[in-house]
Amino acid sequence: MNYEPLMRRAIELALRGTGYVSPNPRVGAIIIDDDGNIIAEGWHKSYGGPHAEVEAINMANLASFENYTLIVTMEPCNFYGKTPPCTDLIIDKKFKKVVVGALDPNPKVNGQGVDKLKSAEIEVITGVLEQECQNLNRFFAKYIIHKKPYILLKIAQTIDGNIALKNGQSKWITCEESRLKVQELRTEVDAVLVGKNTILMDNPFLTVRDYDAPNPKKVILDAELTLPLDLNIFKNPERESTILFCSKPASKSRKANTLSLAGIKIEPITNNEFGFLNLNDVLTILAEKYNIASMMVEGGSQVFTSFIKESLVDEFHIFIAPKILGAGLQTFGHLMIPSINKATELDVKNIEKTGTDFYVTAKISDK
Ligand SMILES: NC(=O)c1ccc[n+]([C@@H]2O[C@H](COP(=O)([O-])OP(=O)(O)OC[C@H]3O[C@@H](n4cnc5c(N)ncnc54)[C@H](OP(=O)(O)O)[C@@H]3O)[C@@H](O)[C@H]2O)c1
Repeated sequence: MNYEPLMRRAIELALRGTGYVSPNPRVGAIIIDDDGNIIAEGWHKSYGGPHAEVEAINMANLASFENYTLIVTMEPCNFYGKTPPCTDLIIDKKFKKVVVGALDPNPKVNGQGVDKLKSAEIEVITGVLEQECQNLNRFFAKYIIHKKPYILLKIAQTIDGNIALKNGQSKWITCEESRLKVQELRTEVDAVLVGKNTILMDNPFLTVRDYDAPNPKKVILDAELTLPLDLNIFKNPERESTILFCSKPASKSRKANTLSLAGIKIEPITNNEFGFLNLNDVLTILAEKYNIASMMVEGGSQVFTSFIKESLVDEFHIFIAPKILGAGLQTFGHLMIPSINKATELDVKNIEKTGTDFYVTAKISDK
């Protein structure tokens, strides 16, 4: 039987968890009878809530599943977390067959769930639409293996590589369609990060507009806590989801106290070798303390430069407007590259048009 169309349906279901399940993975499941008819569907709906397999089994509401196949985007878990192991339930319900998209990247599972089902004499097929299913949980994989958020770098630049005029003005380099796409990307990540100068210059809200989805957390780098309190980012209710990284001395200041009392999270951090806040520490705190599995870095130039210098980028989302600004603010600052063959090379994954712009997605090349 060709399980791919059914797995595609399970992926569609998994996507419904976007914005609601992180740092848990997005998972979809369906149950079919011997003739291939779908009799139940489920997906992981909320962090810590029932898993997709459980949702589908509950929807089917049968005592035994001897003549049924479970199709699931990610390998069923085999350990006690916030919920009991799905493998036990599947064995208990006597499923005939389980079809898996991708293995669970969690080292606690990673193949052991499949082994357990096989040892209970359930037929297991793995690797159906494996890449698509892995892609669904690339944020989760980074978080669970490396204890750091998956980083998307979002850039809106002119064709000659500027993100703003020399005077800092950047509204609007890209077209409306590109900006709508950025809104969509914000619905997919747990947090967005920007540097102090961008907050000062643009006074952004960093919220999701035009989509019915939760807002990402906002992460700001401001070593000396110089940002004025009347900025949009500090207004209610946004400040409740704002995390401000600063130097250790600044975290003990009166301003830090005022910000904390207003509900803003203050996180003291040491400097790195370049004299900026240490981004590795920022990412570790975001993952371990705030359960942030994915973050979109939205600028500006100094922040983009730091993320590249420290090799912290997993994916690039670059919107290129067919405009020329000449000597403006370049996307990236000094990277100390001594020769062309030492340039940071990217593998372009996709290019599409968004309105009048080009939207390029890329990753750092493995070469
Ligand atoms: N078109 C676009 O895609 C886009 C996007 C965003 C912004 N912009 C534009 O970019 C301009 C601002 O960019 P910018 O380069 O001047 O400033 P920025 O990157 O927004 O902020 C840089 C500041 O962040 C703080 N910072 C703390 N830790 C850092 C670290 N590890 N790495 C880098 N910075 C760190 C530093 O100040 P402290 O040391 O005082 O903390 C630093 O000066 C604005 O004009 C804005 O409109 C354009």
